[in-house]
Amino acid sequence: MSVRRHSFRGATRSGAPRILIVEDEEIIAEDLGYRLRDWGYEVVGLAHSSDRALELAREHRPDLVLMDIVIQGTMDGIETGRRIQMEVDASLVYVTAFADRDTLSRARITSPIGYVLKPFQDRELRAVVELALTRHKARIRDDQTRQTLRLLAKRLQDVREEESVRVSRRIHDELGQLVTVLKFDVAWLDHQKERLDPDLQERLTQVVERVDAAAASVRQIAGELRPGVLDDLGLLAAVEWMARDFGQRTGARCIVHERGDLMRLDGRTATAAFRICQEALSNIAKHAQATSVEIHLERRPGGVYLEITDNGCGIKREALRNPASMGLIAIRERARAVGGRCSIAPMSGGGTRVRARLFEGGGMEA
Ligand SMILES: Nc1ncnc2c1ncn2[C@@H]1O[C@H](COP(=O)(O)OP(=O)(O)OP(=O)(O)O)[C@@H](O)[C@H]1O
Ligand SMILES: [Mg+2]
Repeated sequence: MSVRRHSFRGATRSGAPRILIVEDEEIIAEDLGYRLRDWGYEVVGLAHSSDRALELAREHRPDLVLMDIVIQGTMDGIETGRRIQMEVDASLVYVTAFADRDTLSRARITSPIGYVLKPFQDRELRAVVELALTRHKARIRDDQTRQTLRLLAKRLQDVREEESVRVSRRIHDELGQLVTVLKFDVAWLDHQKERLDPDLQERLTQVVERVDAAAASVRQIAGELRPGVLDDLGLLAAVEWMARDFGQRTGARCIVHERGDLMRLDGRTATAAFRICQEALSNIAKHAQATSVEIHLERRPGGVYLEITDNGCGIKREALRNPASMGLIAIRERARAVGGRCSIAPMSGGGTRVRARLFEGGGMEA
């Protein structure tokens, strides 16, 4: 192998893919760097040790790291690669003379984009680097698209929530007031009933019933949109109200277990927990054929833990993977929007479990 000395410090060509070389044999490192520069890449640095590799990666944020597995320093190339990936959004290609099974399976955990075995040929190296950079770009684009979709989902949920609060308040305050006044008027008439013809008396009885039904309906619609109890009495009261309503509608037993002080939760976290619970219960009513549902609500440091289990038919793997499962996606995004995590899975003994850990003050900026 011919060795060509070259200084890479300050070698910039704006827009060119940025590559960091981690290789403890100086001659190989210099040669790699020379070739890559020659092909139009920007070599942001040569590191001979794990510590220097981390330093350079933090400083230059390369697109790609060509990583020797056996290097000097406190960590080997695989561990260094893992640390670099955790800290900066770089892709990895291992350049190595060792390709035994153990090494490869350890290396695989870091999802490298490729391997180049030493000694390497120009064509082979170039093909692997090109492929790695193309995949890196595609991955970055995918990540950006996913992030955009997430923000969009969060925005939609926020807008919907605000709208629900607004419409629910108007229904409750304006329509609710009107119906209440109507109820007083009708009650007054009802007291004068004896003064009316029997026909009119019968008609009045119907009107009283209808006004009562309208009042109940107004309460139900406003509550479904956004239960006032969530804002007034907190998450636990709102979930208990929902559980009672669920039990009455489906005939299933629905028990709420609580732990810790759930009163002083911030509004976003309480809303997220409430909506997750609402979607989970709506799914149970629609799909599970369950006779028993348990809801656990627990205040934990920094947020709240929520678990909803049913003893129904159990959610299918296909439903969990289906990108059209919008209700499940909404549950996951609700959790993510407050910096939380969530899992939805069938249970080994039958039924389904939805779990969410939600954090106060966590989550994405809109
Ligand atoms: N508790 C459950 N038990 C059994 N299957 C479930 C349960 N929850 C969800 N599923 C399955 O997961 C699928 C996806 O649920 P998802 O909430 O995304 O959609 P949906 O309820 O069918 O429609 P939408 O929520 O949009 O009205 C359901 O169609 C159902 O097959
Ligand atoms: Mg659903």
